[in-house]
Amino acid sequence: MNHKFNRLQWLVHLVSLIPLLVLVFDALTNQLTVNPIQEITQRTGRTAILWLMFSLACTPLTIVFGLSVFNQVRRPFGLYAALYASLHLLTFLILDYWLDFQLIFRSYLEKPFIIVGSLAFLILLALTLTSTTRAIKKLGKSWQRLHQLVYAAGVLVIIHYIWALKADITRPVIYAFILAVLLLVRLKPIRQWLIRRQPAWGKTVNTFLKGGKKKRKPAISIKTSHGPSDL
Ligand code: HEM
Repeated sequence: MNHKFNRLQWLVHLVSLIPLLVLVFDALTNQLTVNPIQEITQRTGRTAILWLMFSLACTPLTIVFGLSVFNQVRRPFGLYAALYASLHLLTFLILDYWLDFQLIFRSYLEKPFIIVGSLAFLILLALTLTSTTRAIKKLGKSWQRLHQLVYAAGVLVIIHYIWALKADITRPVIYAFILAVLLLVRLKPIRQWLIRRQPAWGKTVNTFLKGGKKKRKPAISIKTSHGPSDL
C-alpha cells in the first residue's frame, strides 16, 4: 500500500485544517463576536455540513468528469466532517451546558432539532469507527451497506440545520438541492449516461492531481452496482 500523499490529498488535509486554525486564532484574539459560544457552535456546525457535502461529492465527480483521484479523498473529507461535528457537539455539551445532564436532557425535550442532529452524529461516529482498512475487510459486504447511511446522515443534518435556524433558511435549502443532485447522479441509468460522456480533460486533471504520470486506474466501471461509500 502506498502511504505517500498525492497533490490532492495534501491539499485536502491543508484546507481542512484552515477552519480549525482560524477558529483557534479568533478565540485567542477575542474575535468570536459578543456570543462566542454561539459563534463556535455555528462555525463548527457549518464546517461539518460543508465537509460532509464535499465527501458526498467525490463519487459524483468521478462519475461526471472521470476524476477518480477524488475517490482517495472521500474518506479524509468524511473524517474531517466527523471531527468538526465532534467539536460542535463538545461545544454544546461543555461550553454551553457545562455538562449539566439535567439541563442537556431538558434541551433535548424542548428542541427536537437536537435529537435529529444527534442521530446524524451517531451515524457519522459509526462510519468513522468503521473507516479503517481492517474494518472494511472484517465487515465485507455489510460495510458497503453501513456506509450507505452517509446519505441518511446528509438528510438528517439538513433537517437539523433548517430546524435550528429561526429565520432565513436559504443555506440549508441550497444544501438540500445539492444533496438531491448528488444522489440523482448515482442512479444507475443517469450514472451510465454520464460515464459515457466523461470529458477527455478529466484524465489530464487526474494525472496532475495525482502528481505525475504513474499507474492509472480506469475512472469508474459501468458495471458497478453501487458507488463506493463516502466515509
Ligand atoms: C451531536 C448532536 C448535535 C447537537 C447537540 C447539535 C447542536 C446544535 C445547536 C444547539 C445548534 C444551534 C446553534 C445556534 O443556536 O445558533 C446547532 C446548529 C447547527 N448544527 Fe448542530 N448539533 C448536532 C449535530 C450536528 C451535526 C452532526 C452537524 C453537521 C454535520 C450539525 C450542523 C449544524 C449546523 C450547520 C447548524 C446551524 C449553524 C448556523 O446557525 O448557521 N449539527 N446544532
